Amino acid sequence: MSSSRPAAVVVLAAGEGTRMKSATPKVLHDICGRSLVGHVLAAASELNPENLIVVVGHAREKVVGHLAEIDPDVRTAVQAEQNGTGHAVRMALEELGGDVDGTVVVVCGDTPLLSGETLLTLASAHSADGNAVTVLTAEVPDATGYGRIVRDGAGGAVTAIVEHKDASDSQRAIREINSGVFAFDGRLLADALGKVRTDNSQGEEYLTDVLGILREAGHRVGAAVAADHREIAGINNRVQLAEARRILNDRLLTRAMLAGVSVLDPATTWVDVTVTFEQDAIVHPGTQLQGATHLAEGAEVGPNCRLKDTRVGAGARVDNTVADTAEVGPQAKVGPFAYLRPGTRIGLKAKVGTYVETKNATIGEGTKIPHLSYVGDATIGEYSNIGAASVFVNYDGQDKHHTTIGSHCRTGSDNMFVAPVTIGDGAYTAAGSVITKDVPPGSLAVARGQQRNIEGWVARKRPGSAAAKAAETASREPEGEG
Ligand code: UD1
Ligand code: MG
Repeated sequence: MSSSRPAAVVVLAAGEGTRMKSATPKVLHDICGRSLVGHVLAAASELNPENLIVVVGHAREKVVGHLAEIDPDVRTAVQAEQNGTGHAVRMALEELGGDVDGTVVVVCGDTPLLSGETLLTLASAHSADGNAVTVLTAEVPDATGYGRIVRDGAGGAVTAIVEHKDASDSQRAIREINSGVFAFDGRLLADALGKVRTDNSQGEEYLTDVLGILREAGHRVGAAVAADHREIAGINNRVQLAEARRILNDRLLTRAMLAGVSVLDPATTWVDVTVTFEQDAIVHPGTQLQGATHLAEGAEVGPNCRLKDTRVGAGARVDNTVADTAEVGPQAKVGPFAYLRPGTRIGLKAKVGTYVETKNATIGEGTKIPHLSYVGDATIGEYSNIGAASVFVNYDGQDKHHTTIGSHCRTGSDNMFVAPVTIGDGAYTAAGSVITKDVPPGSLAVARGQQRNIEGWVARKRPGSAAAKAAETASREPEGEG
């Protein structure tokens, strides 16, 4: 027997998905960082098919654009009018040149929980049994709306699939349903699709009719029962979308926890399929990890963090923080209440503290920016300290400019670094300075107005006020008492 590598996987995604009530086509809705059709394609590619083809129809420009982005090797077939699942598969076979020799697997574009493993089981059962068609079925608690699997007596061979709308009362009592996933012999499929009629309640070409046609022609029809019926659930509305997201998120967190990650509150922790962890990472409640985010060994994140495409180094601590495309070095500390924007790179043991925003900034080993600052377009060396409430003034209204601060610097609180500007190694700046000129290494820069005290001003200008009384009392107290 040849390998079970299919000649083609056909993904049906031409339907409108009216019940989503959305301007976005159904298959482009997202769960855990991937579109519904993206999840199906990921599972399908585990079969390593010779051709992967998606049938598009409704809002096809958007769907085709998305497919080109996520997988340039995917082919598409257009089904201009949605005349049924059989018609959709016919369009795919035409696009593939009519006659497909080998196994053709058909899946729906709206079943994001379907695993590659289940597809592999189906494909190998199909080739091992030498079937003309093998349908993936499942026993479900509520079969309403699904096509029913009709068997030749209990546990007997599958004789037909009857759609809910076309089923008799006794057929509607059947709880084994058609998942919409099939493996076919390509030649026999093409042949049978030519014989499918539209004399049903929806006036459509049903793919499911192919089973009865093949069986009547004396071919082998088989079924594989899915281990977990939740895998084959199709998404039709936003309630089901949320349920599927919950299930997939739980799967991802379970896998992480079993690999040694502590997730303190799985109910409020949300992860994308692309997130990776090392052992002993800790995730506190209310945390969303997205895209290519990675937590290294012992990294501790949360509560209340949203990290996208962010790498958190070993033993680093990130608390109440939003980060996008940032790198947090090993043992660094971030937050609480920090905002790391793209291009932020925080070195080993460095600190970005409370109410600090960073963007396109490289912060060297051991450097601290503890409080209330904006650091944009900057390079800061090692073991420097940036005073509270400092702003890297990077924008002149037209262009962005860069600030460079050396190593072992001590800049004062409430500094403005008007870029482009450079502070040399070991330099100091005075509190409240507006630094517009470069500071040589080891210098102290003072750039602020001189203080002037106008004595007796309150007594003259605010006589009888509480301030004046307090000042008078103070002037009577002997010095040194407080
Ligand atoms: C279909 C099956 C049903 C099965 C159920 C599983 C048929 C006739 N019925 O019913 O037995 O239990 O799936 O969820 O096959 N599509 C197209 N073009 C079309 C029609 C549909 O591409 O002309 C696509 C849809 O976008 C969707 C998939 O095919 O991804 C299934 O279509 P849908 O209308 O949801 O089928 P069901 O009525 O749910
Ligand atoms: Mg339908």
